[in-house]
Amino acid sequence: MTESTAPVPGLDAAEVPEPGAVTIVVPTFNESANIRQLLRRITESVPARLPCEVLFVDDSTDDTPEVIRAAAQDCPFPVAVVHREEPVGGLGGAVVEGLKAATSQWIVVMDGDCQHPPSLVPELVATGERAKADLVVASRYIEGGSRAGLAGGYRVAVSRGATWLTKALFPRRLHGISDPMSGFFALRRSAVTADALKPLGYKILLELAVRGRPRRVAEVPFVFQERFAGESKSTAQEGFRFLRHLAGLRTASPVARMVGFGLIGASGFVPNLVGLWALTALGVDYLPAEILANQLGVAWNFLLIEQLLFRDRRAHRRWWDRLGRFALLANADLVLRLPLMALLVGRFGMGALPATALALVMTFVLRFVGTEALIYLPRRRGSRARRAA
Ligand code: GDD
Ligand code: MN
Repeated sequence: MTESTAPVPGLDAAEVPEPGAVTIVVPTFNESANIRQLLRRITESVPARLPCEVLFVDDSTDDTPEVIRAAAQDCPFPVAVVHREEPVGGLGGAVVEGLKAATSQWIVVMDGDCQHPPSLVPELVATGERAKADLVVASRYIEGGSRAGLAGGYRVAVSRGATWLTKALFPRRLHGISDPMSGFFALRRSAVTADALKPLGYKILLELAVRGRPRRVAEVPFVFQERFAGESKSTAQEGFRFLRHLAGLRTASPVARMVGFGLIGASGFVPNLVGLWALTALGVDYLPAEILANQLGVAWNFLLIEQLLFRDRRAHRRWWDRLGRFALLANADLVLRLPLMALLVGRFGMGALPATALALVMTFVLRFVGTEALIYLPRRRGSRARRAA
């Protein structure tokens, strides 16, 4: 299904079969020193080969929107700027805003700091037309591409690790995409499913590739340049956002969520044992120590499932309501398991070991289903309202 296509040197507009106009979406956050340079480079390399317009989606706290409006006067193509008062979803949220507003047949998303060469814009679109692709990724990791401008060994290592982890988590969806972290890509407008997207921070391409399910994907190599001015807006916090984003994407299906639930549950043994050790060392009797330590494991599990599994399904209940229900389910699980085992051994004549295993699995599934249904199931009202709309 997927295709990687080499760039075509000397391509001109005539080779783009359909009207081929492109909306270049540029997310900006305090990039006033880069705007003129970016628009100059676009002017030099795009309109002669492909009719274009530029749409900035801006969350700046500096004078970037004013600089854009002033610089737009000198541009031979339309330039628009949408300034968002509330930067919902960060960079990814801004891009989705741009995807919704764009009207051309093709949309190219690129950074506003000149790290992405505008001369590649016509090529991305032409490649998409030629390969009949919905998504064309500008990649640093195929022959002819490089990440020359990625500042410092630390960033290179992080970028490489993140790419590897992401590819490992989504081997099928990201088949044919060597650079899922790229912020430079072209998208066919008919393939935009902006409503299905839940962008969170920087990795909007990942969101598009995994949730948007483009039918056909192509790649074009590019050299990631140095920033023209200013500094990267990415922070360590953005790194955590990325991990949460990955977890959210990976656990979108109930089966995947159940696996995550099990892994988190297993990890709860660590705080449980540490707590038990600490309490008995403090002289607490082992039975109350066991019960208390168990609550530590419950708290650990609660924090992790909230952060990683049910992040966007929490709003309809207060945190103490959710914690109370979760603790109740977790402790019910413990109380239920013994009589269940007794039943399996006494009534059904099972051996102690298989009975233990079966009881564990049964209570686990019950607990997962209970957690989904009794704590995180979104209330009906929302869906009814949507249907009515
Ligand atoms: N509207 C908006 N809102 N724009 C933002 C925000 C935000 O919250 N945060 C950053 N931007 C804009 C910046 O102004 C810039 O135009 C672009 O998004 C990229 O931000 P940088 O801060 O320069 O990102 P980077 O260079 O560290 O990362 C780039 O390369 C990565 C690959 O190494 C981005 O393209 C990433 O998406 C990409 O993964
Ligand atoms: Mn940058």
